[in-house]
Amino acid sequence: MGNIFKPLHKKGFKMKNILITGGAGFIGSHLVKHFVKKYPNYHIFNVDKLTYASNIKFLNEIENENNYTFFKLDICDLNSILEFFNEKNITHVIHLAAESHVDKSIESSIVFGKSNVLGTLNLLEAAKNNWKSNEEKLFYHISTDEVFGTLGEKGKFSEESKYDPHSPYSASKAASDHFVRAFHDTYKLPTIISNCSNNYGPNQNKEKLIPTIIHNLITNTEIPIYGDGKNIRDWLFVQDHVDAIDLLFHKGKIGETYCIGGENELSNIELTKKIISIYSSITGIDNIKLNKLIKYVKDRLGHDKRYAIDITKIKNEFNWIPKTNLEKGLSDTIKYYLN
Ligand SMILES: NC(=O)c1ccc[n+]([C@@H]2O[C@H](COP(=O)([O-])OP(=O)(O)OC[C@H]3O[C@@H](n4cnc5c(N)ncnc54)[C@H](O)[C@@H]3O)[C@@H](O)[C@H]2O)c1
Repeated sequence: MGNIFKPLHKKGFKMKNILITGGAGFIGSHLVKHFVKKYPNYHIFNVDKLTYASNIKFLNEIENENNYTFFKLDICDLNSILEFFNEKNITHVIHLAAESHVDKSIESSIVFGKSNVLGTLNLLEAAKNNWKSNEEKLFYHISTDEVFGTLGEKGKFSEESKYDPHSPYSASKAASDHFVRAFHDTYKLPTIISNCSNNYGPNQNKEKLIPTIIHNLITNTEIPIYGDGKNIRDWLFVQDHVDAIDLLFHKGKIGETYCIGGENELSNIELTKKIISIYSSITGIDNIKLNKLIKYVKDRLGHDKRYAIDITKIKNEFNWIPKTNLEKGLSDTIKYYLN
């Protein structure tokens, strides 16, 4: 899949050979398309194992672009990753590949340790071993706000928050963050980490909350809501996350961490009712009838109560704020799944 690698060397131009891992997943597919289209002088190597959560068809529209190549690879396979770095002369990494579903990590955690921790460590080793000089290099690690644990009614997570993960998923992401920091501190590897709140938008796997709600509305089946539905999450439209990643990739300071969020705090039940209301106005189906599909189910084990993100740092340093208002983002997402 993809093209044979054709480097675009221009006089005085320093080529960026960017490895994006997990590019056939939800956020990765938006990021890969964004970079391939916006930066024709960068070569984007998309490495993905193509797990159940991926869909390579998300990338159909760019698969023949000259500056794009796809490789089916498992980041847990150290030898292949070392060889890949060397052969493709990788200069930059944006690392998204991970097992990402909390419920799955509660059922079975081993694969989370492998892909999220060992996989990250393999990539760090490959970067350390291949990058003779750290000039014009970057290892950008994409992480989650879930590493910080849970909040009470007040306060927000920031870059200063202490790590306190509660699920096997968040523990594996926290461990990978620590390895990235350790490689910066020990080997001076040029790293950046960003911790983002919940993303939503097209291409997300059906197992996640918003696609589940929309899918069950479309199929007229019960919408399961954990516990009392009062757990609060912050929601960010996926393209806004991609814009923030682009910004930090180009302007972020080496060794720093940045928090990214949507400033859209909602309880799960408020979110569900909002989606139902937007779905009702798009389809004309009665709102009261749709609300009857909500079914409260046994709470998730170790369910964090509240997440919220303080975006002051990225806002003050780079003028970044989320652009997509929640109604518009949800409406576009519903229309995507309806189609
Ligand atoms: N979705 C969110 O709300 C959110 C929020 C903050 C941070 N993140 C982080 O962003 C990243 C991407 O999340 P997503 O929601 O797009 O996840 P996703 O599950 O949709 O996609 C993950 C991708 O990684 C690939 N992958 C998994 N294991 C692999 C392995 N061993 N080798 C190679 N590829 C592998 C999968 O095939 C898939 O394409 C993750 O690191 C996640 O922790 C996600």
